[in-house]
Amino acid sequence: MALKKFFRKIFALAYDFFMSPVERTGLRKLRKKILRLVKGENVLELGVGTGLNIPVYPDGVKIIGVEPKFEMLERAIKRAKIFKSNVSFICASAEALPFEDEKFDTVFATFVFCEVNNPEKGFSEILRVLKSGGRLILLEHVRPDGKFASKIFDIANRFTSIFGENINRRTVELAQRSGIKIEKVENIYDGVVKLIVGMKP
Ligand SMILES: C[S@@+](CC[C@H](N)C(=O)[O-])C[C@H]1O[C@@H](n2cnc3c(N)ncnc32)[C@H](O)[C@@H]1O
Repeated sequence: MALKKFFRKIFALAYDFFMSPVERTGLRKLRKKILRLVKGENVLELGVGTGLNIPVYPDGVKIIGVEPKFEMLERAIKRAKIFKSNVSFICASAEALPFEDEKFDTVFATFVFCEVNNPEKGFSEILRVLKSGGRLILLEHVRPDGKFASKIFDIANRFTSIFGENINRRTVELAQRSGIKIEKVENIYDGVVKLIVGMKP
């Protein structure tokens, strides 16, 4: 148990270390861009991880960050203190959100749905906690559209999924099938990453 905790701590540290150059060379800007789409006052971030969105959280909103891995959450809590961000945290999963129905104006997540074990359940929980007319914003790496690239991702997924990373998820379709009304899909990095904006009808 102690060993598992130790490796999870190392993983959280390594995540920040390896993301640091990516953040500096464009991802931070992208995070800022998508967070401008947040509407309303009550906002939920799913899979907050080590809190890399915290530095670009918009002003004047109340954010709750949900994250199932406590060691990731620990780093997010430290980051929130540094940036004096108006965020509170709960250790929980997208598939079982500990909130009442229709609580949030916006739900957002970045690079999370590739890891969610049961994405259908995750989307049904999002629909439950979003207000009618509320907004869903996702920045996700997904199965690319092209025939060749998608085949490569399907093959690679056999290995990455062993580590819980599903790189060929059809997240737009999953969201749509769950009942989210898709308003916008923007391809980033040749469609390997997609910005998905939707609404609870
Ligand atoms: C690739 S990291 C992204 C972290 C952060 N959102 C970011 O943009 O840097 C994926 C995160 O999703 C979290 N995650 C995995 N399964 C989840 C679930 N079922 N519900 C919520 N978060 C989950 C992981 O623990 C991890 O922190």
